[in-house]
Amino acid sequence: MMWVEKHRPQTPEEVVGNEEAKLKFLSWLKKWKPGGKAALLHGPPGVGKTALVHAAAKAAAYDLIEMNASDARTAEKIMRTAGHAASESSIFQFFSDSKGVLILLDEVDGIYGREDQGGLGAILKLLEESKVPVALTANDISDMRLRELKNACLTIRFQKVRPPVMVAWLEEICRREGLEAEEEALKLIAARSRGDVRSAVNDLQALAEKTRSLRAVDVEKLTARDRQLSVQEVLGEIFLTNNPLYAKRAQAEAEVDRDLLHLSVHENLPYQFTDPEDLAAGYDALSRADVFFGRVKRTQNWGLLSYALEQMSMGVAAARRGKYTPAGYRFPPSRILILGRTKAQRELIKEISAKIGVKCHVSRRRAAADFLPYLRVMFQHSKEAAAAQLASWLGLDEAAVAYLKGEAAKPSSAPARGRKPAGRRGARR
Ligand SMILES: Nc1ncnc2c1ncn2[C@@H]1O[C@H](COP(=O)(O)OP(=O)(O)OP(=O)(O)O)[C@@H](O)[C@H]1O
Ligand SMILES: [Mg+2]
Repeated sequence: MMWVEKHRPQTPEEVVGNEEAKLKFLSWLKKWKPGGKAALLHGPPGVGKTALVHAAAKAAAYDLIEMNASDARTAEKIMRTAGHAASESSIFQFFSDSKGVLILLDEVDGIYGREDQGGLGAILKLLEESKVPVALTANDISDMRLRELKNACLTIRFQKVRPPVMVAWLEEICRREGLEAEEEALKLIAARSRGDVRSAVNDLQALAEKTRSLRAVDVEKLTARDRQLSVQEVLGEIFLTNNPLYAKRAQAEAEVDRDLLHLSVHENLPYQFTDPEDLAAGYDALSRADVFFGRVKRTQNWGLLSYALEQMSMGVAAARRGKYTPAGYRFPPSRILILGRTKAQRELIKEISAKIGVKCHVSRRRAAADFLPYLRVMFQHSKEAAAAQLASWLGLDEAAVAYLKGEAAKPSSAPARGRKPAGRRGARR
């Protein structure tokens, strides 16, 4: 069983940190009367927004009707599920000492976007008509489209949970689980989590599966392993987030190779964005990133780099308006796989081209594009002796001759201009 479920706060007291926000919410719930505002809890992930609503409902004997707002985007669906509950007192009230119903609309920031306008309207209507308290949660409410919603609610801001508070909660879980842990280890876990209790508890559980007495070095290992994963994590931030700033931050903080990330975004974009308009906007941002990357390379003006990086991260993240359909990430990018597979051949081509260059006074690039294809034809169709003479004049070794004769596997990355004439001629004979 997941520890985040097992040790989900049962009472409002167990929701650690964010004391002010907690009090604000609890007093809102206590004082709520029909006609009162709804409460909108917002802030970073994994800090206990949803958990607090659950725990508070339980403590105050409310029946909780929960609905993930991003699953139920249409007006109709929201009204059907929540509207009914909002208009009548709970059936349970007749059988128990329940106070009635509390509606939780979870993750309301997932609802906006072109196709979802109905959803937002339905929520506003629900808030206006509801005869029972409604709590909403969101990560980010800075979007202008949520302004009306914000105005209709009492907003309660949650912040990242501070490390000492987090460590205390992790200690509590260790105690319940009979797990020994160095304080330093818990501090490291807390630091890694960046204020996200859910991720800290998940880390603790993952580590506890390997050892019953947790040391700081174990946590460090976990951190090291994570670094290799971080391209996918950054991709996650870019494709998934509703807030482009998160994408930018992830890109900036992650220790991943820029080019690798760039290729990975290219590769994954068409699988991640299913809406054609989103996809077009995504490619638009990527093409701008490409332009800037090119300029940096040509002019060595590194000041332009940040524009490239922002287009690649924030630009792509901001391109998605529609719904996000999760799809796995393709990694490493196929281009890197192909380049890896053809590395030996590319080296060979480079070497032959350099030798041609020396004899014919051309650049290696030109040798590869304009000389090499014809040389291959000559090697494949002239007499053995003539080929040998040519090879010795250029100073080619066996591997090079074999490649020119077409005995080695054909390179997939040979210049297209070169491959065509050879191929056509071969086909005609
Ligand atoms: N403040 C907290 N105190 C104790 N446990 C917490 C706290 N915050 C999160 N957790 C743990 O993490 C789990 C997830 O928390 P919760 O669902 O409340 O996060 P959230 O703030 O709603 O995040 P999101 O924005 O991603 O929905 C909880 O079940 C609990 O185990
Ligand atoms: Mg939540």
